[in-house]
Amino acid sequence: MSVTILGIESSCDDTSAAVIRDGVMLSNIIAGQKVHEAYGGVVPELASRAHQQNIVPVVAEAIRQAGIDKTELDAIAFTRGPGLMGSLLVGTSFTKGFAASLNIPMVEVNHLQAHVLAHFIKETPEDTGQPAFPFLCLLVSGGNSQIILVKSQDEMEVIGQTIDDAAGEAFDKCAKVMGLGYPGGPVVNRLANEGNAEAFTFSKPHIPGYDYSFSGLKTSFLYTLRDHLKENPGFIEQNRADLCASLQATVVDILMNKLRKASKDLGIKEVAVAGGVSANTGLRDAFVDHARRYGWKIHIPEFAFTTDNAAMVAMSGYFRYLKGEFTGMDVVPFSRVVI
Ligand code: KG4
Repeated sequence: MSVTILGIESSCDDTSAAVIRDGVMLSNIIAGQKVHEAYGGVVPELASRAHQQNIVPVVAEAIRQAGIDKTELDAIAFTRGPGLMGSLLVGTSFTKGFAASLNIPMVEVNHLQAHVLAHFIKETPEDTGQPAFPFLCLLVSGGNSQIILVKSQDEMEVIGQTIDDAAGEAFDKCAKVMGLGYPGGPVVNRLANEGNAEAFTFSKPHIPGYDYSFSGLKTSFLYTLRDHLKENPGFIEQNRADLCASLQATVVDILMNKLRKASKDLGIKEVAVAGGVSANTGLRDAFVDHARRYGWKIHIPEFAFTTDNAAMVAMSGYFRYLKGEFTGMDVVPFSRVVI
């Protein structure tokens, strides 16, 4: 019997809906929100309003592109959290109404687990190469930097995480002081491709275990700018590419050092990366390099699955649906949670 799941994602500033049938993606529609660019960050109230405007057309388009009728849906999976409360409420409330009208079950999904499970999405029925358990997943985004030990689809243990800023935050904050706009991560990445990664040295944290810290790097980056700007007001403009290349290399190095340690200690060579920062080409190259040097079997997501998307929510919902894990109408979103 085939199972068709509609996924709904509205945890931050992307409204997304996707249809997955038996693990194969039929559609994945994402509406971003340009309204935040002028503010240099996501404005929660504006995000909720944009979700409210986007959700009906985005879901309609996902169903249309999947080539199905809504009556063919078996369940609706939605992001319950973590995320912005007002944003989550839009997806959760929409799901309640739509599921009730179709008389089908709802399945709640943890956004962070969904990023990890994006690696199981099949784009065609023949798609193979999904990770084998147990594997390590580096989850790096604007709000998280974690090393997750994935034992099964629903058994995940966070073995390391940032004690202050996330990796995406480090990119964004350093980009902001260089006047590169928001979100700065992709711009830093683009400029880094033209720069010398050894031009500048920034401090790296020394903390035990598998935890991360990026606040020291941010301060070291700021001090470098401050010191050079005293001598040369045009320092940033003249060294933008080198600054970006050196920053990116330092972030990637910090991320990979702990991941390498975890892989060695636990004897796990199946290693994945997920989240917005997994779009970074320096990080992707480092994964390929580690595969060659250490015999890792690596899993790097398609660019479409690096940012928030509903295909990963539908995929996670599909696994829960198969286990009969449904959610009641009294569900409320949660803004914070560990995996
Ligand atoms: O997972 P995500 O879409 O959502 C949040 O957690 O907000 O991640 C967004 C983060 C931002 O910090 C953004 O600057 C970063 O991912 N990012 C990148 C790149 N693309 C997105 N950072 C570095 N290089 C990139 N190519």
